[in-house]
Amino acid sequence: MSTIGIVMGSTSDWDVMKEAAQQLKDFGIAYEARALSAHRTPAELAAWMQDTEKRGCKAFIAGAGGAAHLAGVVAAQTLLPVLGVPIPSKYLKGLDSLLSIVQMPKGIPVATFAIGEAGAANAGLFAVAMLALSDSALSKRLQAFRDKQADAVKKAKLPDL
Ligand code: RP5
Repeated sequence: MSTIGIVMGSTSDWDVMKEAAQQLKDFGIAYEARALSAHRTPAELAAWMQDTEKRGCKAFIAGAGGAAHLAGVVAAQTLLPVLGVPIPSKYLKGLDSLLSIVQMPKGIPVATFAIGEAGAANAGLFAVAMLALSDSALSKRLQAFRDKQADAVKKAKLPDL
């Protein structure tokens, strides 16, 4: 069963997108990750989406770089929430990816995250938060994760001059 479908436009995106997978894994959430492109393999993308939805997928995380239309194309074909991750690109450093994903026309939303690893990790954590709405044990684990971060900040000491 795949609860979260992670899709990226290229295997070259995995270094960033694995951060989303890692968060899901840390919270014990099943995921399926695939490299499928909106422009190179559109039919395979659609077929995979239908298949993973049948197997219980609750949301998609889509990462792509450049003219990053993948998340929008995914959102066009599902009623499930779609979380978009802009992948850093060589020349425009991911600003192209960010604008391509965040500027969806009205009516087909894509929740857009930060460029790169932080965005991928936060997309994973956002998916955890969505699933935690109907899973009290998962909600407790998410609270513990937040508490741990807060404790680290509270204990942090700045170096003396
Ligand atoms: C996009 O083009 C992919 O999402 C990737 O970020 C970018 C470059 O892809 P490759 O040329 O590395 O396959 O479709």
